[in-house]
Amino acid sequence: MKFALVTAVLFSSIGLVGVANAASVDKGMALVEKANCASCHGAGLNAPIMPVYPKLAGQYPDYLYYALKAYKVGNSNAQYGRNNAIMGSQVQAFSDADMQDIAAYISSLPGNFVIKK
Ligand code: HEC
Repeated sequence: MKFALVTAVLFSSIGLVGVANAASVDKGMALVEKANCASCHGAGLNAPIMPVYPKLAGQYPDYLYYALKAYKVGNSNAQYGRNNAIMGSQVQAFSDADMQDIAAYISSLPGNFVIKK
């Protein structure tokens, strides 16, 4: 919880607000289906077709939003940009709100990530 709070504060300070906004799971689902993200990330976004494609289902929404945003930013900000040609091209058309909706949807999917305590 403390980590989430610190992360939220950190993201807002660099313009990556989103944790507090009401994201729409339904809109996120429509965007993910339209873009056919499952063609690489697999059924339920939990069965990648090749090992280089990560599992996404059930991941934390703030992590997913940050990752999508970082692909969009790409090389233009070395502090938090992710330089990946495949994902960079996937996310260019998405607005911030779209990426929040997508993150909310993917996070709601059943996955098999575990938290060890
Ligand atoms: C053509 C194949 C392909 C498609 C289509 C695709 N992805 Fe990806 N995705 C990848 C690859 C490859 C990576 C790993 C990139 C890297 O190494 O940074 C990735 C990484 C990601 C990550 C980062 C995961 C993490 O754990 O950091 C997210 C989030 C993501 N994709 C979401 C999406 C969404 C949402 C869509 C649909 C809009 C999508 N992807 C469509 C191939 C694809």
